Amino acid sequence: MTLLHHLTGAPPGMTTRALMLRLAGIGAVLAGTAGTFTYAGGWLSPDALTPARVVDRFEQVNGPHPGFRRNHAKGLCVAGTFASNGAGARLSKASVFSAGRVTWVEGRVALAGGQPYAADAAATVRSLALRFRLPEGEEWRTGMNNIPVFPVRTPEAFYEQLLAAKPNPATGKPDFERLKAFFAVHPESAKAAALIKARTITSGFADSTFRSLNAFRFVASDGRTTSVRWAFVPERRPEPESAAQEAQADKNVLFDTLAVELRREPLHWHLIVTLGQASDATDDATLPWPADRETVDVGTLTLTGAAPEEADTCRDINFDPLVLPDGIAPSDDPLLSARSAAYARSFTRRAGEEKVPSAVAGTSPDGASL
Ligand code: HEM
Repeated sequence: MTLLHHLTGAPPGMTTRALMLRLAGIGAVLAGTAGTFTYAGGWLSPDALTPARVVDRFEQVNGPHPGFRRNHAKGLCVAGTFASNGAGARLSKASVFSAGRVTWVEGRVALAGGQPYAADAAATVRSLALRFRLPEGEEWRTGMNNIPVFPVRTPEAFYEQLLAAKPNPATGKPDFERLKAFFAVHPESAKAAALIKARTITSGFADSTFRSLNAFRFVASDGRTTSVRWAFVPERRPEPESAAQEAQADKNVLFDTLAVELRREPLHWHLIVTLGQASDATDDATLPWPADRETVDVGTLTLTGAAPEEADTCRDINFDPLVLPDGIAPSDDPLLSARSAAYARSFTRRAGEEKVPSAVAGTSPDGASL
């Protein structure tokens, strides 16, 4: 009797194909049970999806990488300033939008995924996380991605998708049938995935647009609130990634190029705030807002330098999207509290682990230290 026979309780004469079908049936039942368990009661209630389970799943999918962020594991620290032009002050009383205010900013550019030594593939989602230090101990922390919408609507869907998209070690690609099954129950994710796939992939970090994806609320000094999404749009004209670049052997090409560029000159992005209307979904990051919505350019981010992840740079920052100043409030998007809780759990785990150098702690392509 084979192990398969033993697992399925099948009689010894049963063929392998029949056995596989029986096993698939058992798997479906198990998955169904897990689903019931997961959905019972919603995020953070007993027996339901917890931050620890989300972080466990990152570890299950990516393997253990002690000391690193459980997602967006490969990154480089950046720093600079944000200069407000005053146009945001009518929308939000946050001091960061006062006319003429220049705020010191620390940040981190990264690639999505839990692999700290993965090669810089152009199609991997790029991120920019920022921490604005404001007067009177206030802070604004935000983490953004270079995609038009987020692939899932709820924390539960995020949890399922992590496993559904896990690459098969033999092929390096996700299992098609598993993904198909995920999209069948999450048609909103299938639509979002099509929008994400259709985006233009630019040549690097410096010409990428980074979006909040989640909606927030701006609160003005008269109490008026406006639903918003924001994006940091590069001053540099976006260039599509070239074929030569795609063939680049350097596995840190995106990070190293940014570091070299920042040594040469500062890089600028405009903070463009999109004003939502009553009909625009604030609780569903898979849905784009109509393209004709009013936008307001509220100021300029200037990045002036990059440095490897260390204790005194961005390594030990938790870019919790709910650390917000008075004047910026969360929306009803269920991803926000889930993100906040999962980032805290990831942070707590990595803070207690021994650190090894980041893959982008070395030298730039021209040999100079970053
Ligand atoms: C339920 C949904 C999500 C979960 C569970 C999740 C989970 C995580 C975790 C665990 C980390 C590592 C945090 C750390 O150790 O510091 C992370 C990092 C990050 N996530 Fe998410 N994420 C979610 C949705 C999003 C969304 C919607 C965005 C944004 C647009 C986003 C952007 C980022 C960024 C930019 C980082 C890197 C921050 C850094 O550089 O330190 N995530 N995410």
